[in-house]
Amino acid sequence: MDTPKTPPQKSHGRKTIRPTLKPRELMESAPDLARAWKAQVITLLPDAFPGILGESLTGRALKDGLWQLETIALREFGEGKHRNVDDTPAGGGAGMVLRPDIMAAAIDHARARIQPAAPLVYLSPRGRPFTQAIAQDLAQGPGVSLICGRFEGLDQRVIDHYRIAEISLGDFVLTGGEIAAQAVIDATIRLLPGVLGNEASTEEESFSDGLLEHPQYTRPAEWRGQKIPDVLMSGHHGEIAKWRRAQSEGLTRQRRPDLWAAHHPKPNSD
Ligand SMILES: C[S@@+](CC[C@H](N)C(=O)[O-])C[C@H]1O[C@@H](n2cnc3c(N)ncnc32)[C@H](O)[C@@H]1O
Repeated sequence: MDTPKTPPQKSHGRKTIRPTLKPRELMESAPDLARAWKAQVITLLPDAFPGILGESLTGRALKDGLWQLETIALREFGEGKHRNVDDTPAGGGAGMVLRPDIMAAAIDHARARIQPAAPLVYLSPRGRPFTQAIAQDLAQGPGVSLICGRFEGLDQRVIDHYRIAEISLGDFVLTGGEIAAQAVIDATIRLLPGVLGNEASTEEESFSDGLLEHPQYTRPAEWRGQKIPDVLMSGHHGEIAKWRRAQSEGLTRQRRPDLWAAHHPKPNSD
């Protein structure tokens, strides 16, 4: 296949800052920020990035160089005049499948531009369900290369050849992997030092200790006849912590028996 003449990736990050910069305008070539956590996304829709990641705290952190984003446009590796990237499924059936040779060229290009310890991940409904623990693992490493599927997905041989880990956003089918990639990146970068103003807040959130978070309240003290629970207004930190813990445990037991069982394994009966 013919390789692209110009590098098909766009980098997003600190070297591109101008005071009036809009999220899409972060998409200018930027030299690698040597120590910043790096997300690479192989996609047919590079214009979908940075998307929501260019907003609010994640967008600010991107501009400040706390993490970097590189999109790799799969189409640029496509074959022929129309840069074809897909073909009909072997054995018949509806839809199209992303070709292994085209995807392999994009993967080789991507992997040469990221530290080898960064995992290579395919967003897929068949994958391991994404969890806070996976986000924590990713945040500990140098970054991640994410592959977004489209159509019927990716030829199995490329998954096997590169031993690509598969991660799912949940038991539903999206049109493509881009929303899933943004969710994985968002959940991970908010765990990087400095991205959230108040780092303690990630320690008290849902899943951080295997439980769902307690309910939250703010002013006004009474709204439509409902008061904030007295204990939260008492100023008694010990009692507040106890109340929050009990709420957390109750909610987890009621709504997520799977999490509760993992958090509170039944004593061995033998
Ligand atoms: C229409 S889906 C393909 C679904 C595939 N034929 C199947 O039944 O498993 C196209 C792409 O969307 C992405 N995708 C869809 N659902 C997803 C999910 N729950 N989690 C992560 N990625 C998903 C994957 O990248 C997938 O290759």
